Amino acid sequence: ASYNLLLLPGDGIGPEVMAEVEKLVRWFTKTGIARFETEKDLVGGCAYDAHGVAITDAAMDRAQAADAVLFGAVGGPKWDKVPYEHRPEAGLLRLRKDLGLFANLRPAICYPALADASSLKRELVEGLDIVIVRELTGGVYFGEPKEIVTLENGEKRAVDTQLYTTHEIERIARVAFELAKVRRNKVSSAEKRNVMRTGVLWNEVVTRVHKEEYPDVELEHVLADNCGMQLVRNPKQYDVIVTDNLFGDILSDVAAMLTGSLGMLPSASLGAEDPATGKRKALYEPVHGSAPDIAGKGLANPIAMIGSFAMALRYSFGLVKEADMLEKAIANVLDSGLRTKDIAGPGVNAVGTGEVGDAIVKEMEKL
Ligand code: NAI
Ligand code: MG
Repeated sequence: ASYNLLLLPGDGIGPEVMAEVEKLVRWFTKTGIARFETEKDLVGGCAYDAHGVAITDAAMDRAQAADAVLFGAVGGPKWDKVPYEHRPEAGLLRLRKDLGLFANLRPAICYPALADASSLKRELVEGLDIVIVRELTGGVYFGEPKEIVTLENGEKRAVDTQLYTTHEIERIARVAFELAKVRRNKVSSAEKRNVMRTGVLWNEVVTRVHKEEYPDVELEHVLADNCGMQLVRNPKQYDVIVTDNLFGDILSDVAAMLTGSLGMLPSASLGAEDPATGKRKALYEPVHGSAPDIAGKGLANPIAMIGSFAMALRYSFGLVKEADMLEKAIANVLDSGLRTKDIAGPGVNAVGTGEVGDAIVKEMEKL
């Protein structure tokens, strides 16, 4: 099969880390393991410089047509004063909105070689591999009313509204169950049904989707506060955690700290399934930004970007074996002691972005 990839490297270190993914894309195509057709376009500050907008309609059309979008990072001091509607982040926000990316996946993978960089003890995190599926377009961040009103007595009252529909819960639940099927087959659904009506509905809908569509996947329900505690007590009990926008925001940041550096964290955002083709819109990006402080120096850690490509292999293309292989190649390179500066630790000689990318390609050849 052949897959259509749109590369949006963006600004700062975005193009530097994307170049390492391009090495892997070429390697896959050369070996015939998987064929990728790639297109490249501008997003963020560089798009503003060239076209006066953070992403053009033409680039959006390409994103809509692609099997997956790989996104680097956007922004930097150069664009701090551009008009608000054209700021670099506007490109990413438009992609998320127009592609309808309602599911945000943040894995927490702890490579054994980096287990000492975790906030937890080595034995608790070594080999950790979990993914948090956060609902991204609903819940209390968007529900109306959302306001601050001044009362008659001069006091103020602030209101946010947590709101979920059956449809919104069903579609995020399906994403979680589908992921679990290509992982370790377990979903933990986190809500607060003990104090929230949205929690009651969430629990009810996830239970029904499980019973009707995914009875072979293991499902457990966990109260979101307990889930936070369990993540720092014994994170390896989890495989896929599915939760709402607010709890997911918090739990994914907690999980991030289990793994160490910002330069290591990949992510995916998925949209609705096209009923005709069964395909989902998808955007894969590192969690980090454009790192202006190290941009242009060849120092950036490419692993978050390469890990995002591994997620694309697993979740957009069904290339599970190849994704496992790529993650193994990353682990082997880290085991060999090759590190960029952000994860090198004191006394270790750091190498550059390109050397890490080359070493990962070389590992792929051995595997
Ligand atoms: P940042 O993630 O760019 O950098 C934070 C710190 O982590 C810096 O010291 C940086 O050098 C380091 N770092 C980040 N990624 C790294 C990597 N791959 N390898 C080694 N070190 C790495 O966040 P910051 O500094 O808050 O924002 C910088 C710019 O990036 C801003 O313009 C911000 O708006 C933008 N940004 C863009 C995001 C995106 O494109 N999704 C996300 C976050 C920030
Ligand atoms: Mg957050």
